[in-house]
Amino acid sequence: MRIHSTIACLRAALDDGGRVALVPTMGNLHEGHIALMRQAREAADTVVATIFVNRLQFRPGEDFESYPRTFSADCEKLEAAGVDHLFAPDEKEMYPQPQGYHVEPPIEQAGILDGEFRPGHFRGVATVVMKLLQIAQPDLALFGKKDYQQLMIIRNMVRELNLPIEIGAGETVRATDGLALSSRNGYLSEAERAEAPRLFRLLTQAAEAIRAGNRHFAQLEREASDELVRHGWVPDYVAVRKRIDLQLPTAHDSGLVVLAAARLGSTRLIDNLEV
Ligand code: PAJ
Repeated sequence: MRIHSTIACLRAALDDGGRVALVPTMGNLHEGHIALMRQAREAADTVVATIFVNRLQFRPGEDFESYPRTFSADCEKLEAAGVDHLFAPDEKEMYPQPQGYHVEPPIEQAGILDGEFRPGHFRGVATVVMKLLQIAQPDLALFGKKDYQQLMIIRNMVRELNLPIEIGAGETVRATDGLALSSRNGYLSEAERAEAPRLFRLLTQAAEAIRAGNRHFAQLEREASDELVRHGWVPDYVAVRKRIDLQLPTAHDSGLVVLAAARLGSTRLIDNLEV
């Protein structure tokens, strides 16, 4: 695997790369990221991973400074997964001057769910993903369903701005107890880690109820949320939405997804499950 810290160096290496797949990450890689690398490996001639902790998508007071940075362990994992190129720029390379132009996703998509609780987050994500897509110019870029709203916003950005890039999705990779793998799981204490799988269990229960014909979405959301509160969580939302645009479903809609975000101690966890 070749490691590039500059845009010029990456671009020169990708000339003649055949079909190129890009997998953007913020590092601290786990099996969820690596599954995306493998998916990329199967779909393309050249696989490019990126590691960049993007300040633009963190709000003041969020964990930008403390976000886990584990570069050499990450490199070993990428190498083992057959990644050809790692682009790992520093902030000066990505933002040589303060970023003046931004990609502003529509409020209907970016102001709801996670965007409601993290104002500006998806603008930061869309802007850095747009830059990474322009830098690497891949044929295919892969993102995880773990960050469902992020995936939807990126798909829509690429479509509406006519980028000639295919967007692929990876299924959420979980620990054996159901907890979705996340770099932020490392913040959990032992007791919190034992409690954390409840989030997925409640999503599973809600999804099963819907599958069995229960259409009282608001009630299902409230029950799951109350159950989280009873076990010491501070939920931001539990929401039944349409997969396609994450808007409110009517009782007749199919193609649904249940999404949740909640804080356990000082750690904010998100998860979702397609129905
Ligand atoms: P990061 O959280 O590092 O995630 C990188 C990619 O891995 C994202 O597409 C995310 O959805 C996916 N991913 C994370 N955990 C996963 C899991 N358990 N199963 C499957 N996929 C998983 O998401 C970001 O970084 C950033 O916002 C980024 C897109 C890189 C822009 O800065």
